[in-house]
Amino acid sequence: MPQSTIESILQEKRLFHPSAEFSQNAHIKSLEEYQQLYDRAQADPQQFWGELAEKELDWFQKWDQVLDWQPPFAKWFVNGKINISYNCLDRHLTTWRKNKAALIWEGEPGDSRTLTYAQLHREVCQFANVLKQLGVEKGDRVGIYMPMIPEAAIAMLACARIGAAHTVVFGGFSAEALRDRLIDGQAKVVVTADGGWRKDAIVPLKEQVDKALAEGVPTVQNVLVVKRTGQQIHMEPGRDHWWDDLQKGVSANCPAEPMDSEDMLFILYTSGSTGKPKGVVHTTGGYNLYSHITTKWIFDLQDTDVYWCTADVGWITGHSYIVYGPLSNGATTVMYEGAPRNSNPGCFWDVIEKYGVTIFYTAPTAIRSFIKMGEHFPKARNLSSLRLLGTVGEPINPEAWMWYYKVIGGERCPIVDTWWQTETGGIMITALPGAIPTKPGSATRPFPGIIADVMDLDGNIVGDNEGGYLSVKYPWPGMMRTVYGDPDRFRRTYWEHIPPKDGNYTYFAGDGARKDEDGYYWVMGRVDDVINVAGHRLGTMEIESALVSHPAVAEAAVVGKPDELKGEEIVAFVTLDSTFTASDELAKELKKHVVGEIGAIARPGEIRFTEALPKTRSGKIMRRLLRNLAAGQDVSGDTSTLEDRGVLDKLREGA
Ligand code: WTA
Repeated sequence: MPQSTIESILQEKRLFHPSAEFSQNAHIKSLEEYQQLYDRAQADPQQFWGELAEKELDWFQKWDQVLDWQPPFAKWFVNGKINISYNCLDRHLTTWRKNKAALIWEGEPGDSRTLTYAQLHREVCQFANVLKQLGVEKGDRVGIYMPMIPEAAIAMLACARIGAAHTVVFGGFSAEALRDRLIDGQAKVVVTADGGWRKDAIVPLKEQVDKALAEGVPTVQNVLVVKRTGQQIHMEPGRDHWWDDLQKGVSANCPAEPMDSEDMLFILYTSGSTGKPKGVVHTTGGYNLYSHITTKWIFDLQDTDVYWCTADVGWITGHSYIVYGPLSNGATTVMYEGAPRNSNPGCFWDVIEKYGVTIFYTAPTAIRSFIKMGEHFPKARNLSSLRLLGTVGEPINPEAWMWYYKVIGGERCPIVDTWWQTETGGIMITALPGAIPTKPGSATRPFPGIIADVMDLDGNIVGDNEGGYLSVKYPWPGMMRTVYGDPDRFRRTYWEHIPPKDGNYTYFAGDGARKDEDGYYWVMGRVDDVINVAGHRLGTMEIESALVSHPAVAEAAVVGKPDELKGEEIVAFVTLDSTFTASDELAKELKKHVVGEIGAIARPGEIRFTEALPKTRSGKIMRRLLRNLAAGQDVSGDTSTLEDRGVLDKLREGA
């Protein structure tokens, strides 16, 4: 986090209350009501979740047991039978919502489409039948590599309907990254599009799929292609099929498969501090409940709302808060293919005005870039339909929070700053907007049923306003169940940083935080080797591996440098193979190489060539020192463990 952000967060004392009107109409109406819910959930979490599961979802068969906790492995709603696509679609068809807009899509060069619940149901059933015809069965995995078009949501729901797990890969990832994920997930089918629109250009998605499959991904048998951009693409006979061709004339009758609560719903890959990205596994029943109830209470969904989350379906935010949470609640969810850019700086405000968006959920980085573009863009649009705002993905600095509150929210909309992770499945720490007064820069309080705390590494709870590690002491329904194919990694990564005591396991989130005297959480950012660039999560080691796979690079160390706009920027320290010499061209080439290996989100902002990397006597790269150096801080102190002090002088000269 930039130093200026840390300072302003530490000094923040303002408190903002929701209006009486907002609270009166909200699902959770007061701080007392929140506190009662919280206390009740803490006293008996299983009863709390069990009652909600019964009330909020439709089950084919009720569970025998709410929770089976064999730490760190949890089973929720044991032996319950349920289907999330049924809860997102079928159950609304017998109500007035049948012809309500489920999905409003605003596409990129000017097209749009609205699907009612009945229409979405029909498309999902048809596509589910297409998948079946291609031999996709319950328990198989399907890769989805798509632009932000309705077919992405349709494909996800169709997989869920027949019990195939989807693994969505963000369309900005490279062919190489896609390939790794398809191999790890053993995908049988890939669903993609010829291309997608991204900032006035075409992302050649199908071409990337071809590249990813070129060296052979043995499990992939079929590729389904949506026609979106219309450019020429190669279609491999026997393997590749146009979506429209297969969808045409297929039966729209496809009953939802009764799934076990613990059947896998999806795998989503995310970066950690070590090794390759991890396949985070989420299962059916618990995830359905958790995404449903967090959407309902945190976004205070009412039937008249038009809800818009600007994330991409390639991230967990898109899974839980564009697709599953809103649809399970019978809401109208907006999906937008575009992104703000110089040629269209007001595009978000156009969408809000066009559809009368009432709830708007975006990332702090986007807000900071809007501040930079100038408030005349939002001021030129009528944003009076908005009644609630949200943020996600990174800490928000109080200045950006205040701008969001005043310029976008007209000082009438509460802001929910929502802390959570791919692993948690849904939001964990947040205001409930009608109940919990907000403080700019604080995610405020844990969601009912989330027993969180700030701890040291021995598991002791630290005092008010002391820094520590954000942790969760009890399982929750939306939690990840394992790392795909590597349960041991799951245990090590999340449940053993804080040593289990007397059989009590604590979830280690990897974030630093402090809790103030009012019990409000202030998340300070990652404490591990994960970098958060513009709300996107990247592992330093992934980027380092990408760099050393280039012939010029001998060794690489990647760190995050505070950035006022993006939160952090990637700085790579690189030593070269002796046959190469440092140059601006080589730096450019290395950046391009990383983009090719991972994707544009991982492009280093800076490459610093150096003769050697600072190491301890035992040979470990001193990352903290590099971080401080990248941030332009004084590094003369605390170098006693450095093996060769000359390295430091050279690094300083290089800078
Ligand atoms: C960070 C995104 C501060 C945090 C949903 C976390 C946040 C990581 C917030 C997860 C927030 C997310 N305030 N930090 N409101 N929300 N983070 O898996 O470091 O892409 O560990 O999930 O984003 O990123 P992920």
